[in-house]
Amino acid sequence: MSNPSSAIESILVENRIFEPDDRAREGARISGMDAYQALCDEADKDFEGFWAKRAREHLIWTKPFTKTLDESNAPFYQWFSDGELNASANCLDKHMGTPVESKTAIIFEADGGEVTKITYKELLARVSQFANALKAKGIGKGDRVLIYMPMTIEGVVAMQACARIGATHSVVFGGFSSKAVQERIQDAGAVAVVTANFQLRGGKELPLKSIVDEGIAMGGCESVKTVFVYERTPSAWNRVAGRDVSFTEALTGQSTECAPVPVNAEHPLFVLYTSGSTGKPKGVQHATGGYLLWAKQTMEWTFDIRPEDVFWCTADIGWITGHTYVAYGPLAAGATQVVFEGVPTYPNAGRFWQMIERHKVTIFYTAPTAIRSLIKAAESDEAVHPKQSDLSSLRILGTVREPINPEAWMWYYRNVGGERCPIVDTFWQTETGGHVITPVPGATPLVPGSCTLPLPGIKAAIVDETGKELPNGSGGMLVIQRPWPSMIRTIWGDPDRFKKSYFPEELGGRTYLAGDGAVRDARTGYFRITGRIDDVLNVSGHRLGTMEIESALVAKTDLVAEAAVVGRPDDVTGEAICAFVVLKRGRPDGDEAKAIAKELRDWVG
Ligand code: PRX
Repeated sequence: MSNPSSAIESILVENRIFEPDDRAREGARISGMDAYQALCDEADKDFEGFWAKRAREHLIWTKPFTKTLDESNAPFYQWFSDGELNASANCLDKHMGTPVESKTAIIFEADGGEVTKITYKELLARVSQFANALKAKGIGKGDRVLIYMPMTIEGVVAMQACARIGATHSVVFGGFSSKAVQERIQDAGAVAVVTANFQLRGGKELPLKSIVDEGIAMGGCESVKTVFVYERTPSAWNRVAGRDVSFTEALTGQSTECAPVPVNAEHPLFVLYTSGSTGKPKGVQHATGGYLLWAKQTMEWTFDIRPEDVFWCTADIGWITGHTYVAYGPLAAGATQVVFEGVPTYPNAGRFWQMIERHKVTIFYTAPTAIRSLIKAAESDEAVHPKQSDLSSLRILGTVREPINPEAWMWYYRNVGGERCPIVDTFWQTETGGHVITPVPGATPLVPGSCTLPLPGIKAAIVDETGKELPNGSGGMLVIQRPWPSMIRTIWGDPDRFKKSYFPEELGGRTYLAGDGAVRDARTGYFRITGRIDDVLNVSGHRLGTMEIESALVAKTDLVAEAAVVGRPDDVTGEAICAFVVLKRGRPDGDEAKAIAKELRDWVG
């Protein structure tokens, strides 16, 4: 698009468009649409130069790169591929000797409300010490480590420690089952697991370690030699002799210094599994250099992060959002961030608002599902309404993971943002590594329900099945037509599936297919995501393949003959799962039908 700003200005008066106010604009890195457009033009004019400049500006390289983008083996694009760096050094060591050294890196609020703070210097010592504990168990560069941890400082420490020694982490969300743990250990060939005895959520103590044990016992996990157990609670856990070690034991005697291991920019920083349209989850592989560049760059562009900010992304480290905007981005940017262990409804549904007040959060980033459920709660109970909390510290709001309906957007804008905070509706995916289409808070006029425009350097478009670009106003498939630094590199162990899923021949083999439908506004060119075009459901922002659920249902061999799964619209979760099941023993009625439905629901869960 040549110049979106003039088209947008022309309809300002007619449509409900929310322009950034002076507070958002003042001192913003990208202030006003002309500044945004200038960056887009810069990227258009000299694409590689644009990224090279930023990679040098944002990252510390132990060996500088000379080649920016290698397209010789497309779509296996490589970025900065002759350079070397360490991700952890770029998040921690680089702040030493600067004022950030003694700044709070993480404000941790536990499920029960206890608050712990840790400075950058202390975090570096913790990460180094755990890195040494990993090394003492023979874990090193290129090894895969599965992380199955609660939202805690230790979870972030485990990820950073892997990065520090060049081990590739694969975080599994703490709500996933033993089967998921087993499949991911097997697929990644993990040599170690980092877990906790229990996690605390909503006042309940939920097991983690025993689920790891169950997963490993399912077989095929012989690669795992060590299980590190963080004792989150005093409760006892079952120890497998010769394999399991508590954090305390592992850390005893380990130095708090550990030299970061330089790795090639293309070295896999992590593999994160996500649902695809077939039964088997895909191990999305990200590279160190390009990913970290984007994590840092988007902290600046999308959140306009400033030294005095208190940043809070509510995502769990088990999802990509918790990777980029908890474990890496805020640290690379030297920000203070809140890490929250619990759930938004405990001890009451005002918890988020109370925490914003308590920690003077300035940037708050959450999912539409959470907002919608908190709207419901606030409407039925004044005591948990955001107006009960002082939210005046807020400067920028964000959403991610699913389309936000304009009503929820307006509620968030008014009741949480006090009609003064821009909302950045960030569209992205596990595969994109970071934001790709999103408003820029000091520049982009906002339209509720639209993720607006691509970030500079991201060439997003809407095409038909043949790859032909469609005019604004027509719905089609969302694609990205040029590579970008934080893009998925491959599917772990399955390059063919990578090519077929994301760079299909029908689109020429070099265009990234996002898997979402989208439409651009006829006049502004703004993007609106209409939902997945493949067999993936988005339930509360969680990606679930219909085939995954169908496979789970038919795996209940004593009951189920056949199953088919579709999505249906839901007011709170966006989409709900609807399963049609043919039972082996014919159709039950009444209470029996209800009991079977419950049994199957629990089984799938
Ligand atoms: O369908 C889109 C939806 O979430 C999918 C990506 O899911 P996942 O890889 O789990 O990553 C979620 C967090 C980045 C997308 O294909 N999605 C994500 N953000 C938005 C969205 N849909 C609409 N608007 C968004 N802002």
